[in-house]
Amino acid sequence: MYKDNEIVKRYREILSKVIIRKSECDEFVWFLENQTTWLTAPASTKYHLSIEGGLLIHSVSVAETMLELKNALIPEISDESCAIVGLFHDVGKIGMPHSPRYIKKNSGYEYNENQIEMSIAARSLYIVSKYISLTDQEAQAILYHDGQYIQENRPVAHRECPLTLLVTFADTWAAAKEDGRIKIDEEFYFKKR
Ligand SMILES: [Fe+2]
Ligand SMILES: [Fe+2]
Repeated sequence: MYKDNEIVKRYREILSKVIIRKSECDEFVWFLENQTTWLTAPASTKYHLSIEGGLLIHSVSVAETMLELKNALIPEISDESCAIVGLFHDVGKIGMPHSPRYIKKNSGYEYNENQIEMSIAARSLYIVSKYISLTDQEAQAILYHDGQYIQENRPVAHRECPLTLLVTFADTWAAAKEDGRIKIDEEFYFKKR
């Protein structure tokens, strides 16, 4: 039921930007779509996009925002890097094929305690690297995508690659949009200058 909708079309469009590592990416995507909850998982248990397919909606939004930002700011970065990092930065939220991270209950989703604990970003990097040969910059971007919101990321403060800065901003922006936190107060922005 989820296969042909608008988000899936946008997701396939982003995937089509992966050219050099297409065969690795195709194999990864086959695994994700056929052996994990990738197409149906929520983005969280209670917060942003806690709905079926929420993770895919969020991932598409982050990848599209990264592509727009990099075209404006640093077109030297490849579409392929933005597609891989944007789409898969949160892929750790699927958990594992035998042990999904989120379990559907009548009233929503619950976190599955029965799995090996690791951060989402570490799990994302772990899962992606099994299939796709990442550049060092892509690995940094996936592992540290939460930026300085997370204390453990302190060692990369002021040492982020441009790709890491792009994913951190795109992720924060997408989550704020999803939560309805981006409101344009015209009075403030346009009249009081
Ligand atoms: Fe994340
Ligand atoms: Fe995210």
